[in-house]
Amino acid sequence: MKIHVLGSAAGGGFPQWNCNCRNCAGVRNGSVRTRARTQSSIAVSPDGVDWVLFNASPDLLAQIKSFAPLQPGRSLRDTGIRAIVLMDGQIDHTTGLLMLREGKPLEIHCTRMVHEDLTHGNPLFRVLGHYCGVDWKPVELEGSGTFAVGAVADLEFTAVALKSKAAPYSPHRDHPHPGDNIGVRVRDRRTGRSLFYAPGLAEIEPHLRPLMEEADCVMVDGTFYTDDEMVQLGISKKRGSDIGHLAQSGPGGMIEALRPLRASRKILIHINNTNPILDEDSPERAAVEAAGIEVSYDGMDIEL
Ligand code: MLT
Ligand code: MN
Ligand code: ZN
Repeated sequence: MKIHVLGSAAGGGFPQWNCNCRNCAGVRNGSVRTRARTQSSIAVSPDGVDWVLFNASPDLLAQIKSFAPLQPGRSLRDTGIRAIVLMDGQIDHTTGLLMLREGKPLEIHCTRMVHEDLTHGNPLFRVLGHYCGVDWKPVELEGSGTFAVGAVADLEFTAVALKSKAAPYSPHRDHPHPGDNIGVRVRDRRTGRSLFYAPGLAEIEPHLRPLMEEADCVMVDGTFYTDDEMVQLGISKKRGSDIGHLAQSGPGGMIEALRPLRASRKILIHINNTNPILDEDSPERAAVEAAGIEVSYDGMDIEL
């Protein structure tokens, strides 16, 4: 299976349009060794021809421009994107759907909770109904959570409920329901190799462990290095844990949680512009790398 990182940054991207923090100023003026990043999304394919998009970022058009396999190559109107899986209804994971409105009905796999949010709180699906239309495939969490995407029969998808946060506009932002946020395991039936993807992950609950322990590649929430990163910078009163993200450092943090896993690739994605790991010369970046953890970047390719 092939995995392509279309975007590796959290909401706002890197640099964020209105942010003058050390990282954002540094990437603009070249004083920090780093690279700019678009908002998080990956594409997964069994063969390099048919791709499943995980989330649709506001930067999707630029991401398609940067990755030829998603571009029209076979007929007058065409795309390599065969289906879209949504991990939640967050703005940075769904706004790109509007950019796909000129095509055929969009095959979108998401939970009932996300479907509800995208029909009422932020009625994107209703708006899309006036353009290409949405072919909704419900992701059921009861039972095995396993679902199929017709165009990529060699891949098996398994969704799992996890703790993060529904989008700020959601009526249940502060009343979590299973299905507000999911993680997905993608398993290649031909090789048995698997990816576990969870760009929003506030807590590693016991039921996630088996999926993470058996995965060959885990790609997880890399938003913040420290829980109070934005508070310390004076940017926000909110901690990472308030908005559904487990920070990397400290006891119980992501670095510690990833340490026992056998995965040969442990990768952080959805990295906030304030996170010091974006600075390739920072001690925080060195600490993450010393733990065998990679920091994703736009254009990163992984072959499993
Ligand atoms: C998040 O990941 O917490 C959200 O995407 C934040 C946002 O909507 O900007
Ligand atoms: Mn986000
Ligand atoms: Zn910034």
